[in-house]
Amino acid sequence: MKNYWQELESKYYMQVVVRTPVTLVRGEGARVWDDKGRPYLDFVGGWAVNSLGHCPDVVAEAVATQARTLIQTSNQFYTVPQIQLARLLVEKSCLDRVFIGNSGLEANEAAVKLARRYGALKLNGAYEVITALGSFHGRSLAMTAASGQEIFHKPYEPIPAGFVSVKYDDIGAIEAATTAKTCAVMLEPVQGESGVNVPADDYLRKVRAWCDEKGILLILDEIQTGICRLGPLFGYELYGVEPDIMTLAKGLGSGVPIGAVLAKEHAAVFTLGDHGATFAGNPLTCAAACAVMNYIIEKGVPRHVARVGQYLMKGLKGLKDKYSFITDARGRGLLTALEFDGDIGQDVLLACLEKGLLVNRVKPNAVRLMPPLIIGSEEVDQAVAIMDGVFSGIVG
Ligand SMILES: Cc1ncc(COP(=O)(O)O)c(C=O)c1O
Repeated sequence: MKNYWQELESKYYMQVVVRTPVTLVRGEGARVWDDKGRPYLDFVGGWAVNSLGHCPDVVAEAVATQARTLIQTSNQFYTVPQIQLARLLVEKSCLDRVFIGNSGLEANEAAVKLARRYGALKLNGAYEVITALGSFHGRSLAMTAASGQEIFHKPYEPIPAGFVSVKYDDIGAIEAATTAKTCAVMLEPVQGESGVNVPADDYLRKVRAWCDEKGILLILDEIQTGICRLGPLFGYELYGVEPDIMTLAKGLGSGVPIGAVLAKEHAAVFTLGDHGATFAGNPLTCAAACAVMNYIIEKGVPRHVARVGQYLMKGLKGLKDKYSFITDARGRGLLTALEFDGDIGQDVLLACLEKGLLVNRVKPNAVRLMPPLIIGSEEVDQAVAIMDGVFSGIVG
């Protein structure tokens, strides 16, 4: 039954998303509370966004202090948090330059614009970007076209040209699709939105070698995988490759909306006037992201994620061994999924909700678990126990 807020939502809000029937009003660490005061363990994490958990002190303090100091100036002027964040990102990654924006899709738009400028300047006008089937790169028209999923294209045709999508985790498919028109290959190190698809360990290395051979750019969309979601600060570190361009968003602000595109010097081909946005890299959001980055570095979050991620996977594999209708337990770090032999994802979500655990139904037959990076092993135990209870109900 819908409550007061849910009734109002159905009256006033555009109906674009299937909501879980709960109204959240407060969060702390890995827990959120609904409007009746009921707590939930949050394994959705704002869709892999709440990296430091809900309302972390370091972010709340950075935002409050910055809000009383300077919120917005426009990029006509230099501002300190923007430059501090750019420096942190460059010094901690293999990339050389940054442009900071407001969201994931904006970062990806900037990445593709960069690749097209690169193609125009260095590859005889090549403009086409190869992406992967099943990929998700955002909801603008161009990122809809970049995303290798028909379902996102159809309602908005004609979609922008210049993208070709090929099978994921298949270097031969990329080789076959590469032509004189190709300027870049754009991939997620692990595909998040289409169900946590983990490629073979050597896939990205092979793609890197192919891009080098052809002189085209490798763009890694680390919007979901970056900022320690897979363990290391950036997902590429897991796979032993360096991209020419990388995009970030989600976990970077731990809930404060921000995105960034980073490029190696040779690929950072924007010149004055090529790109920009009113709110891009404003002091408020950059102060939040600096607080997140500093916390992650000082507290050794990558090591923690590697440990607790393994612990979570052990729990998920235990569930898979116990229940025959669980066909797969997969993921890296704290980006994980359970797949079922039937379309019970929504039923599992609702049964978990009932028992105080939030999960994401990523496909009709799969749920995705992406808790805050600061989650502890006791909270993992609680989540696994709740799922165990839910699954035993399904069996019995
Ligand atoms: C890999 C990836 N790229 C891009 C996006 C789009 O980011 P945003 O929703 O911030 O525009 C997402 C969002 O889920 C994502 O997972």
